[in-house]
Parts: sequence; C-alpha cells; structure tokens
Amino acid sequence: MSSASAPKVFVSRRVPEKAKALITSQCNAILWEKDEPPPRDEYLKIISGIDGLFCLLTDKIDAELLDAAGPNLRVVSTMSVGYDHVDVKECAKRNIAVGYTPGILTKATAELTVALLLATTRRLKEGIRAVENGEWGTWKPMWLCGQGLDGATVGVVGLGRIGYTVAQCLNPFGVARFLYTGYRRPDAEEELKAEFADLDKLYSESDFVIACCALTPETAGMFNADAFKKMKKTAVFVNSSRGGVVNQDDLFVALESGEIGAAGLDVTIPEPLPTDSPLLGLNNCVVLPHIGSATHDTREAMAVLAAQNLIAGLKGDKMPSQIDD
Ligand code: NDP
Ligand code: DGY
Repeated sequence: MSSASAPKVFVSRRVPEKAKALITSQCNAILWEKDEPPPRDEYLKIISGIDGLFCLLTDKIDAELLDAAGPNLRVVSTMSVGYDHVDVKECAKRNIAVGYTPGILTKATAELTVALLLATTRRLKEGIRAVENGEWGTWKPMWLCGQGLDGATVGVVGLGRIGYTVAQCLNPFGVARFLYTGYRRPDAEEELKAEFADLDKLYSESDFVIACCALTPETAGMFNADAFKKMKKTAVFVNSSRGGVVNQDDLFVALESGEIGAAGLDVTIPEPLPTDSPLLGLNNCVVLPHIGSATHDTREAMAVLAAQNLIAGLKGDKMPSQIDD
C-alpha cells in the first residue's frame, strides 16, 4: 500500500509470502527481502520514523534501537515466542506494544526436541558418521548402544507450552516418571503423573534433563558446572530453549570428563556456533542450528500471526498475541 495515511513499517527479513501480502496490503512497508539481517548501523538508519517493526529473534530490540526508530514507533512484533531479545520494559515505558507468536509453534518445537533427544541418546550422529566413513563393520552386540526411554525418569525444566507437549510426546515411549520445576501444573500431575521437584532432586534423579524454559535473568547460565555435577553420569541433557541458559564451557567439561553422558542442543551461544567450537568435536554432543519451529506450515503461521499482531497494534487494537509485562 502506498498511501500517505498508511503506517510506515519495517520488515527486517524475507518472510513467507502470505505474511508479506498482509503487511503490504495495510502498511507502507520497507522490506528487507534477504535471509541475512541488515547490519546494525544500517538497521538503525532504515527504521528512522517507522510506526511499526516486524522483527526476528536475532534482532536486538533495545533502547538504542528504539531511539533510532523515534517517537512514532508504537508496535514491535517479533516472529518468535521467545522475547529475550526485546527490552520489554523499555518498550512499556515508551508505550510501545509488543507482539509475539506463542502456541502455533509448540507442536513443531516439541517434535524437534524429541527428535534431538532421540538422536542424542541413540547416538545417531556417531552412527551416520560410521556409515559414511566406512566404519560400519559387522553387527556387534555392544556397538553404539545408548539409553532408552522405557522405564526412564525425565526431568523437564520449564513445563510450559513446549515442555508439556514434549512430555506428552515422550510418555508413550514408556517413561516411568516425569519430574518438573517451575510453577505447579495440576494438569500434568493428573495426566502424566508428573511430580513437582526442586532442581537438586530433578538433576540427581533424571536420566534425561530437558530445558524448555524461557531465557530470563533467573534462568541465564543455570545449567552450569554445579548443575552438571548433580546430574547422573549417564544423564542426557537436551536444550531447545535458548543457548543462554547453558554455560557452554562448563557443559564441554562435563561432557568431556564423563560427568554427564551426552547433550543435544538446538540453541547455542553464539548462533551460529563457530565450527571450531570444542563442542562440535565431541561424539556425545549433537548440535542443531536452531530449527525447533522449522516446518513450512509453522513458519508461515508464525509470520502471519506476527503480521496480524503488527497490524492490530498499529490500529490501536489488542493484538492476537501481545506480551503484557
Ligand atoms: P512458555 O512460557 O509456555 O514456557 C516456558 C516455561 O518456563 C514456563 O512454564 C515458565 O514458567 C517456565 N520457567 C520460567 N522460568 C523458570 C525457571 N526459573 N525454572 C523453571 N521453569 C521456568 O513458553 P513456550 O513453551 O512456548 O516456549 C519456551 C521457550 O522455548 C521460549 O521462550 C523460547 O526461548 C524457546 N523456543 C525455542 C524454539 C527453538 O526453535 N528451539 C522454538 C520455540 C521456542 P512461568 O510461566 O511461571 O514463568
Ligand atoms: C522462538 O520462536 O522463540 C524460536 O526460537 C524460533 O521459533
């Protein structure tokens, strides 16, 4: 749309067509139609005078950026459920509404978390490498054995939308016990017989420890040397939340020294993880490139919801999914 009265917005990446059409039908949109973000200095220049911003989880939305946008900015809409990259308090101070995309990516992310857990515990990385490198000899009783879920204790840190769905997906594998921390969920206690536990108990009794919590000041770096020491030597640690919840140096030591059994990470610090990261040299560490929500339908639904949030916010309406801090 090019009408003087239409709001001016910036879309900071190439997004699915359906979302783009929605935005351009109602806004004067500046589209950054690339898969790579604009360099920060360019970003800060482009957004000068915008009314709304469609951003991604890799865009740091802080006071500097809000200053660069200027006083017209009234909506920030992120195409993600995680919003640790947005200074929500600073937005609130400036009466900027913030939208996000909860719920629609829950199943896709839970599915990927389960895939990562299975790939890690059943040693798929080593198996695939062995096949490709010609190291697959005869069938051997003791080769590439891992730990199964049948009869296992699974600890979920952050039994929210994704954490709960992960537990529901794992239940049919014969999990004996679910432990969880965070806030109490009577529904999980009823449906999954999940037991509320403090972190020490969860760490020491779980065969699998899965991080599904948001990154907050409280959770930042919580999976550190202390935490890994408390886990079983055979524990499989899986993180599909944010890289920032893990102290990666401590994780490397724990994996290399056999303090824990294995780790599967969909998220790291930084992203992308440099190819010389010591974690990548370990057989017992599987790293994926932050693809939790990466199904075609989910990414389209996320983009459309973020576009709807943007448009509703610009009209002064309550967004379909707004962060209320
Ligand atoms: P939810 O808000 O539904 O779940 C997060 C859960 O973490 C909540 O239950 C929350 O409890 C809990 N939590 C917060 N702090 C703590 C703590 N200190 N200890 C234990 N639990 C805690 O969000 P979603 O399940 O939708 O998403 C979770 C996170 O997953 C996102 O924030 C995002 O970072 C990440 N994510 C990653 C994806 C990927 O591609 N790998 C895809 C999608 C999401 P409370 O509500 O009480 O604060
Ligand atoms: C999110 O939405 O927070 C994920 O990290 C990407 O889908």
